[in-house]
Amino acid sequence: MTTILITGGAGFIGSNFVRYMLALYPAYKILNLDKLTYAGNLESLADIDSNPNYSFLKGDIADRTFIESVFASNAIDSVVNFAAESHVDRSILGARVFVETNVLGTQTLLDAAKATGVEKFVQVSTDEVYGSLGATGYFTEATPLAPNSPYSASKAGADLLVRSYFETFGFPAVITRCSNNYGPYHFPEKLIPLMIANALEDKPLPVYGDGLNVRDWLYVEDHCRAIDKVLHHGKAGEVYNIGGRNEQKNIDIVRLILRELGKPESLITFVKDRPGHDRRYAIDASKIQHDLNWQPTETFETGIAKTIAWYVNNRPWWQRIRSGDYQKYYELQYEKR
Ligand code: NAD
Ligand code: DAU
Repeated sequence: MTTILITGGAGFIGSNFVRYMLALYPAYKILNLDKLTYAGNLESLADIDSNPNYSFLKGDIADRTFIESVFASNAIDSVVNFAAESHVDRSILGARVFVETNVLGTQTLLDAAKATGVEKFVQVSTDEVYGSLGATGYFTEATPLAPNSPYSASKAGADLLVRSYFETFGFPAVITRCSNNYGPYHFPEKLIPLMIANALEDKPLPVYGDGLNVRDWLYVEDHCRAIDKVLHHGKAGEVYNIGGRNEQKNIDIVRLILRELGKPESLITFVKDRPGHDRRYAIDASKIQHDLNWQPTETFETGIAKTIAWYVNNRPWWQRIRSGDYQKYYELQYEKR
């Protein structure tokens, strides 16, 4: 039986990917390894918890002793590394844990996976490693790395380590760089779920700066299908950009959410801009489209409608998150804006 180690499987994209893989590959064993930070939530996987092909391991990807024991006691064929500190604003408040998890954690996994000889190691990276675009143009795999936040700098550091393990040791690693995801189980500190949740509770919707920053949004299931393609058919040493050619200004998304929920635009509050705020991201995904025959299936209209409906129908999931730890962070982040 093929065994896939998925790290960060209790987070947003990871939980969607775990569910996707279990449904599509009944002959695979899926090991989900997650530290359960503030962003890890096993409630996101409650429906698949009893699947005999699924098991969960709580632990830190930067804990060498633990990671070595996981590789020693499981015959792991491939690794998909989602585990990360993922929120840009948190990295501005404190960068250290981003380096510990995103850089040292990735290096720890690389060493353990190299020592036991895996078939494939997929490093889930981000388009943010390329920095920011002006009004025109797209990120290609050849765009130089120019990260602007501590988060993206730590992800770029991990990418360079992964690259070096391929070049130096012939380690079978592949890097994916995706644009902004949206969909079910998205932690409500990120733009789309935060705005939906605040609108549903008639709270202010905090838009950074002039609201004209552009992101290139991809429905999370389309990202999962792309990673599946890369895991099975991606060429070692390659980078694959993933994106939906779906550029949206933040303010347009916020207005759309309010319209769909029948809430007034007076809820919009413009707040102080994010320091170092990247202006525009846009992905050229033609390499993965041509080489691995991948393309997105969801349009933004269908994807955002499904997403809003999911948050309307799953209030307990996000309401529980918005208490406790999350609330403390929320106050720290927004009290001065
Ligand atoms: P997330 O914050 O929702 O989930 C991250 C998960 O990693 C959580 O379950 C958390 O508990 C776990 N984790 C954190 N530190 C850990 C550690 N030291 N050891 C083990 N587990 C740990 O993040 P996400 O949005 O699902 O992103 C997943 C990955 O995809 C990240 O690597 C991120 O950089 C990348 N990515 C995200 C997006 C996006 O739009 N969300 C886009 C492109 C790439
Ligand atoms: O591009 C991929 C990246 O997308 C991933 O690598 C990151 O892990 C993921 O968090 C995401 O980063 P962003 O910074 O683009 O996402 P976020 O949802 O934080 O912000 C999206 C845009 O919305 C950005 O321009 C900032 C703005 N924003 C965000 C928040 C939380 C606001 O205007 N108000 C807010 O309250």
